[in-house]
Amino acid sequence: MEKLEMLYEGKAKKVYKTDDPNYYWIEYKDDATAFNGEKKGTIVDKGIVNNKMSALLFKMLEEKGVPTHFESLVNDREQIVKAVKILPLEVIVRNVAAGSLAKRLGLEEGTPMKKTVLEFCYKNDELGDPMVNDDHIFAMDFATELQLETIKHYAYKVNELLKAFFIKRGLKLIDFKLEFGVYEGKVILADEISPDTCRLWDAETNKKMDKDRFRRDLGDVEAVYQEVLGRIQG
Ligand code: TMP
Repeated sequence: MEKLEMLYEGKAKKVYKTDDPNYYWIEYKDDATAFNGEKKGTIVDKGIVNNKMSALLFKMLEEKGVPTHFESLVNDREQIVKAVKILPLEVIVRNVAAGSLAKRLGLEEGTPMKKTVLEFCYKNDELGDPMVNDDHIFAMDFATELQLETIKHYAYKVNELLKAFFIKRGLKLIDFKLEFGVYEGKVILADEISPDTCRLWDAETNKKMDKDRFRRDLGDVEAVYQEVLGRIQG
Protein backbone atom coordinates (compact mmCIF):
# COMPACT_ATOMS: atom_id res chain seq x y z
CA MET A 1 0.00 0.00 0.00
CA GLU A 2 1.17 3.52 -0.73
CA LYS A 3 0.95 6.53 1.62
CA LEU A 4 -0.64 9.50 -0.17
CA GLU A 5 -1.59 13.02 0.94
CA MET A 6 -2.48 13.90 4.52
CA LEU A 7 -6.23 14.12 5.07
CA TYR A 8 -6.28 15.37 8.64
CA GLU A 9 -3.93 16.20 11.51
CA GLY A 10 -5.31 15.67 14.99
CA LYS A 11 -3.74 16.36 18.36
CA ALA A 12 -2.07 12.94 18.59
CA LYS A 13 -2.22 11.45 15.07
CA LYS A 14 -1.99 12.25 11.39
CA VAL A 15 -4.31 10.52 8.92
CA TYR A 16 -3.22 9.93 5.32
CA LYS A 17 -5.01 8.62 2.26
CA THR A 18 -3.66 5.50 0.62
CA ASP A 19 -3.85 4.24 -2.95
CA ASP A 20 -6.72 2.00 -1.75
CA PRO A 21 -9.86 4.06 -0.91
CA ASN A 22 -10.83 1.45 1.69
CA TYR A 23 -7.83 2.20 3.92
CA TYR A 24 -6.17 5.07 5.78
CA TRP A 25 -2.56 5.30 6.89
CA ILE A 26 -2.21 6.54 10.50
CA GLU A 27 0.91 8.10 11.99
CA TYR A 28 1.07 8.39 15.80
CA LYS A 29 2.81 11.54 17.13
CA ASP A 30 4.60 12.25 20.41
CA ASP A 31 2.55 15.43 20.91
CA ALA A 32 0.48 15.48 24.07
CA THR A 33 -2.32 17.86 24.96
CA ALA A 34 -4.70 18.08 27.88
CA PHE A 35 -7.65 20.20 28.95
CA ASN A 36 -8.89 20.57 25.39
CA GLY A 37 -5.50 21.60 24.05
CA GLU A 38 -4.77 24.22 26.74
CA LYS A 39 -1.77 22.26 28.05
CA LYS A 40 0.74 21.16 25.42
CA GLY A 41 3.85 19.04 25.57
CA THR A 42 5.76 16.07 24.24
CA ILE A 43 5.95 12.57 25.61
CA VAL A 44 9.03 11.06 23.98
CA ASP A 45 8.16 7.87 22.03
CA LYS A 46 4.48 8.03 23.06
CA GLY A 47 3.63 7.60 19.38
CA ILE A 48 5.46 4.28 19.34
CA VAL A 49 3.80 3.03 22.54
CA ASN A 50 0.30 4.07 21.45
CA ASN A 51 0.69 2.66 17.93
CA LYS A 52 1.90 -0.73 19.19
CA MET A 53 -0.53 -0.88 22.11
CA SER A 54 -3.56 0.02 19.99
CA ALA A 55 -2.56 -2.59 17.40
CA LEU A 56 -2.19 -5.30 20.04
CA LEU A 57 -5.48 -4.46 21.80
CA PHE A 58 -7.53 -4.06 18.61
CA LYS A 59 -6.23 -7.43 17.40
CA MET A 60 -7.22 -9.04 20.71
CA LEU A 61 -10.68 -7.41 20.61
CA GLU A 62 -11.22 -8.44 16.98
CA GLU A 63 -10.38 -12.07 17.91
CA LYS A 64 -12.96 -11.90 20.70
CA GLY A 65 -15.71 -10.70 18.37
CA VAL A 66 -15.50 -6.89 18.42
CA PRO A 67 -15.11 -5.52 14.88
CA THR A 68 -12.39 -2.85 14.68
CA HIS A 69 -10.76 -0.60 12.10
CA PHE A 70 -7.30 -2.14 12.63
CA GLU A 71 -5.73 -3.75 9.58
CA SER A 72 -1.93 -4.00 10.00
CA LEU A 73 1.15 -2.37 11.50
CA VAL A 74 3.49 -0.61 9.04
CA ASN A 75 6.30 0.26 11.45
CA ASP A 76 6.85 1.54 15.01
CA ARG A 77 4.71 4.64 14.53
CA GLU A 78 2.36 3.81 11.67
CA GLN A 79 -0.54 1.49 11.00
CA ILE A 80 -3.15 0.83 8.32
CA VAL A 81 -6.81 1.07 9.29
CA LYS A 82 -10.13 0.79 7.52
CA ALA A 83 -11.34 4.12 6.11
CA VAL A 84 -14.21 4.59 8.55
CA LYS A 85 -16.43 7.64 8.86
CA ILE A 86 -15.99 8.56 12.52
CA LEU A 87 -19.22 9.18 14.48
CA PRO A 88 -18.87 12.49 16.38
CA LEU A 89 -19.08 10.86 19.81
CA GLU A 90 -16.61 10.12 22.57
CA VAL A 91 -17.86 7.07 24.44
CA ILE A 92 -16.57 7.01 28.01
CA VAL A 93 -16.74 3.85 30.10
CA ARG A 94 -16.16 4.07 33.86
CA ASN A 95 -15.57 1.32 36.41
CA VAL A 96 -14.18 3.50 39.21
CA ALA A 97 -14.75 7.20 39.89
CA ALA A 98 -11.90 9.41 38.67
CA GLY A 99 -11.23 12.54 36.67
CA SER A 100 -14.21 14.61 35.57
CA LEU A 101 -16.77 12.22 37.09
CA ALA A 102 -15.17 12.39 40.53
CA LYS A 103 -15.16 16.18 40.26
CA ARG A 104 -18.71 16.50 38.91
CA LEU A 105 -20.28 14.26 41.59
CA GLY A 106 -17.98 15.15 44.48
CA LEU A 107 -16.61 11.61 44.79
CA GLU A 108 -13.19 10.61 45.99
CA GLU A 109 -11.07 9.24 43.14
CA GLY A 110 -10.96 5.47 43.49
CA THR A 111 -14.59 5.04 44.60
CA PRO A 112 -15.89 1.92 42.81
CA MET A 113 -19.07 2.28 40.73
CA LYS A 114 -21.94 -0.12 41.56
CA LYS A 115 -22.70 -0.26 37.84
CA THR A 116 -20.50 0.39 34.80
CA VAL A 117 -21.18 3.99 33.77
CA LEU A 118 -21.39 4.96 30.10
CA GLU A 119 -21.16 8.61 29.10
CA PHE A 120 -21.32 10.23 25.68
CA CYS A 121 -19.67 13.47 24.65
CA TYR A 122 -20.17 15.35 21.40
CA LYS A 123 -16.74 15.49 19.71
CA ASN A 124 -16.33 19.22 19.18
CA ASP A 125 -13.18 21.02 20.37
CA GLU A 126 -14.73 24.50 20.09
CA LEU A 127 -17.46 23.46 22.52
CA GLY A 128 -15.05 21.47 24.74
CA ASP A 129 -16.68 18.07 23.96
CA PRO A 130 -19.95 18.62 25.90
CA MET A 131 -21.70 15.63 27.44
CA VAL A 132 -24.85 14.53 25.61
CA ASN A 133 -27.54 11.93 26.27
CA ASP A 134 -29.42 9.56 23.94
CA ASP A 135 -32.04 12.19 23.08
CA HIS A 136 -29.39 14.75 22.07
CA ILE A 137 -27.69 12.09 19.96
CA PHE A 138 -30.88 11.30 18.02
CA ALA A 139 -32.08 14.93 17.86
CA MET A 140 -28.73 16.02 16.39
CA ASP A 141 -28.32 12.92 14.17
CA PHE A 142 -24.96 12.03 15.76
CA ALA A 143 -26.03 8.38 15.48
CA THR A 144 -29.17 6.37 14.75
CA GLU A 145 -30.97 4.35 17.43
CA LEU A 146 -29.57 1.13 15.99
CA GLN A 147 -26.04 2.58 15.85
CA LEU A 148 -26.23 3.74 19.47
CA GLU A 149 -27.53 0.34 20.58
CA THR A 150 -24.58 -1.30 18.80
CA ILE A 151 -22.12 1.18 20.35
CA LYS A 152 -23.42 0.47 23.86
CA HIS A 153 -23.24 -3.30 23.30
CA TYR A 154 -19.63 -3.10 22.08
CA ALA A 155 -18.62 -0.58 24.78
CA TYR A 156 -19.69 -2.96 27.59
CA LYS A 157 -18.08 -5.91 25.82
CA VAL A 158 -14.79 -4.03 25.29
CA ASN A 159 -14.86 -3.10 28.98
CA GLU A 160 -15.17 -6.73 30.10
CA LEU A 161 -12.44 -7.86 27.69
CA LEU A 162 -10.04 -5.05 28.58
CA LYS A 163 -10.59 -5.34 32.36
CA ALA A 164 -9.72 -9.05 32.20
CA PHE A 165 -6.74 -8.41 29.89
CA PHE A 166 -5.24 -5.61 32.02
CA ILE A 167 -5.72 -7.21 35.43
CA LYS A 168 -3.63 -10.19 34.28
CA ARG A 169 -0.88 -7.63 33.64
CA GLY A 170 -1.22 -5.99 37.05
CA LEU A 171 -3.27 -3.01 35.85
CA LYS A 172 -6.73 -1.87 36.98
CA LEU A 173 -8.87 -0.35 34.24
CA ILE A 174 -10.45 2.68 35.91
CA ASP A 175 -12.05 4.30 32.85
CA PHE A 176 -11.45 4.81 29.13
CA LYS A 177 -12.70 6.51 25.99
CA LEU A 178 -13.72 4.84 22.74
CA GLU A 179 -14.64 6.15 19.31
CA PHE A 180 -16.64 4.33 16.69
CA GLY A 181 -16.90 4.71 12.93
CA VAL A 182 -19.06 3.44 10.10
CA TYR A 183 -17.51 1.16 7.49
CA GLU A 184 -19.50 -0.59 4.78
CA GLY A 185 -22.67 0.41 6.62
CA LYS A 186 -21.62 -1.15 9.95
CA VAL A 187 -20.49 0.37 13.24
CA ILE A 188 -16.95 -0.70 14.16
CA LEU A 189 -14.47 0.32 16.86
CA ALA A 190 -12.00 2.98 15.68
CA ASP A 191 -9.42 5.52 16.95
CA GLU A 192 -7.00 4.17 19.60
CA ILE A 193 -6.75 2.48 22.98
CA SER A 194 -3.65 3.63 24.83
CA PRO A 195 -2.47 5.31 28.05
CA ASP A 196 -3.73 8.54 26.41
CA THR A 197 -7.29 7.24 26.36
CA CYS A 198 -7.44 4.97 29.43
CA ARG A 199 -6.89 5.40 33.14
CA LEU A 200 -4.78 2.47 34.32
CA TRP A 201 -3.68 2.08 37.93
CA ASP A 202 -1.11 -0.40 39.17
CA ALA A 203 -3.07 -3.21 40.81
CA GLU A 204 -0.78 -3.36 43.87
CA THR A 205 0.07 0.28 44.55
CA ASN A 206 -2.63 2.26 42.66
CA LYS A 207 0.18 4.20 40.94
CA LYS A 208 -1.26 6.09 37.97
CA MET A 209 0.08 4.47 34.79
CA ASP A 210 -1.48 6.73 32.16
CA LYS A 211 -1.77 10.25 30.76
CA ASP A 212 -2.81 11.64 34.15
CA ARG A 213 0.95 11.73 34.88
CA PHE A 214 1.22 14.35 32.11
CA ARG A 215 -2.09 16.12 32.85
CA ARG A 216 -1.21 16.50 36.54
CA ASP A 217 2.59 16.88 36.27
CA LEU A 218 3.25 13.72 38.28
CA GLY A 219 6.59 12.98 36.55
CA ASP A 220 7.87 9.64 35.23
CA VAL A 221 5.65 10.03 32.15
CA GLU A 222 7.82 8.34 29.49
CA ALA A 223 8.89 5.52 31.81
CA VAL A 224 5.28 4.74 32.69
CA TYR A 225 4.20 4.58 29.02
CA GLN A 226 7.07 2.16 28.34
CA GLU A 227 6.18 0.11 31.44
CA VAL A 228 2.56 -0.28 30.30
CA LEU A 229 3.63 -1.38 26.81
CA GLY A 230 6.13 -3.81 28.33
CA ARG A 231 3.49 -5.34 30.59
CA ILE A 232 0.91 -5.82 27.86
CA GLN A 233 3.48 -7.30 25.48
CA GLY A 234 4.15 -9.77 28.29
P1 TMP B 1 -12.42 12.40 32.16
O1 TMP B 1 -12.50 11.85 33.55
O2 TMP B 1 -11.46 13.53 32.02
O3 TMP B 1 -13.77 12.73 31.61
O4 TMP B 1 -11.83 11.22 31.23
C1 TMP B 1 -12.44 9.96 31.15
C2 TMP B 1 -11.58 9.03 30.31
O5 TMP B 1 -11.55 9.44 28.96
C3 TMP B 1 -10.12 8.96 30.74
O6 TMP B 1 -9.71 7.59 30.66
C4 TMP B 1 -9.37 9.77 29.73
C5 TMP B 1 -10.22 9.68 28.50
N1 TMP B 1 -10.24 10.91 27.72
C6 TMP B 1 -9.80 10.90 26.41
O7 TMP B 1 -9.37 9.88 25.88
N2 TMP B 1 -9.85 12.07 25.69
C7 TMP B 1 -10.32 13.23 26.23
O8 TMP B 1 -10.34 14.25 25.54
C8 TMP B 1 -10.77 13.22 27.60
C9 TMP B 1 -11.29 14.46 28.24
C10 TMP B 1 -10.71 12.03 28.30
